[in-house]
Amino acid sequence: MVKTTSALFSPITIRTVQFKNRIAVSPMCQYSSEDGFANDWHLVHLGSRAVGGAGLIFTEATAVSPEGRITPDDLGIWKDDHIPGLKRITQFIKQNGSVAGIQLAHAGRKASHQRPWDGGAAIAPTGERGWQTVAPSAIPFSESEPVPVALTAAGIEKVLTDFQVATQRALDAGFSVVEIHAAHGYLLHEFLSPLSNQRTDAYGGSFENRTRLLLEVVERVQTVWPRDLPMFVRISATDWTEGGWTADDSVKLADILKTKGVDVIDCSTGGNVPNAKIPSYPGYQVEFAERIKQETGMMTAAVGLITSVEQAEAILANSRADFVLLAREFLRDPYFPLHAAHVLKEDMPWPVQYERAKPRQ
Ligand SMILES: Cc1cc2nc3c(=O)[nH]c(=O)nc-3n(C[C@H](O)[C@H](O)[C@H](O)COP(=O)(O)O)c2cc1C
Repeated sequence: MVKTTSALFSPITIRTVQFKNRIAVSPMCQYSSEDGFANDWHLVHLGSRAVGGAGLIFTEATAVSPEGRITPDDLGIWKDDHIPGLKRITQFIKQNGSVAGIQLAHAGRKASHQRPWDGGAAIAPTGERGWQTVAPSAIPFSESEPVPVALTAAGIEKVLTDFQVATQRALDAGFSVVEIHAAHGYLLHEFLSPLSNQRTDAYGGSFENRTRLLLEVVERVQTVWPRDLPMFVRISATDWTEGGWTADDSVKLADILKTKGVDVIDCSTGGNVPNAKIPSYPGYQVEFAERIKQETGMMTAAVGLITSVEQAEAILANSRADFVLLAREFLRDPYFPLHAAHVLKEDMPWPVQYERAKPRQ
């Protein structure tokens, strides 16, 4: 391993997995699948960021069931046939020195939408390519969106089984990190937040009840996911809305997830209700990663408007998080880590094929 002085390029080992640096590709939907299959786009998109030197590369939200897709074009892992296409990608990522992570997801009441470039509107259950969405309660995301069906006990059991079986497939496909998507107003976040969960059974009401489904998903995933591989959970650390999920709730949840053996809390925010007042400035969500890290001792990942090398380095050097996840900056620059290494004067190896382009000082 190359000698490093920067925080960004300090390697880290979690369980048995070594990450060569702390820069991760944040999950980003590509809406480019047919019937959930990974294809050349996914290989080139994720593969480019491995060539670019990211320490960890997450797939986009990968649906554990067809009804859990945001759009009909989402990546999926609900059948064994999905495995070979994903395996091709994990092999390429590993061959290029990065760690392959998968974000397992169920979109809940935010499922059944058009792709952003087709308008992004909700598709009614009866509409072309649409389906009936499910949620903790029959409350739509907004007044103009279709009403979801509240999950029955059998429906909840199916969600648990879907996450469990998807995890086995993720393992078979060669992923080394699994992340449970419990953020952005998708199904697991909908259960966490009192704004979207008004159930009166064991899955609604108290904090303990609202967190039950996520904790059960974590347990189900762990029946399959080996203890020597890392597990992340992405949360929305606040709903930014009165009466919603709060940062205090997130700290409390992280404490529990720690006892369950979750390794990293990936700290995003928002997405569960329209019109939340979300501040937007560089690193606007880092405070949540910092607070959870400091108050619980959990490792955290910071995400959101992290775009410069200096900013990313400062977040880690000041112990505000253990990883930085970049989304849009990685779309602008797939080689961000190679460029960051140069700025920080780290002698990071370039892919041999690109050696001749490496800056010499
Ligand atoms: C094109 C695009 C697709 C995204 N898809 C996902 C996703 O699948 N899962 C997820 O948790 N977040 C998703 N996000 C959110 C990002 O992971 C990230 O949290 C957010 O963009 C803020 O980071 P940034 O400022 O570096 O872009 C997406 C963002 C973008 C731009």
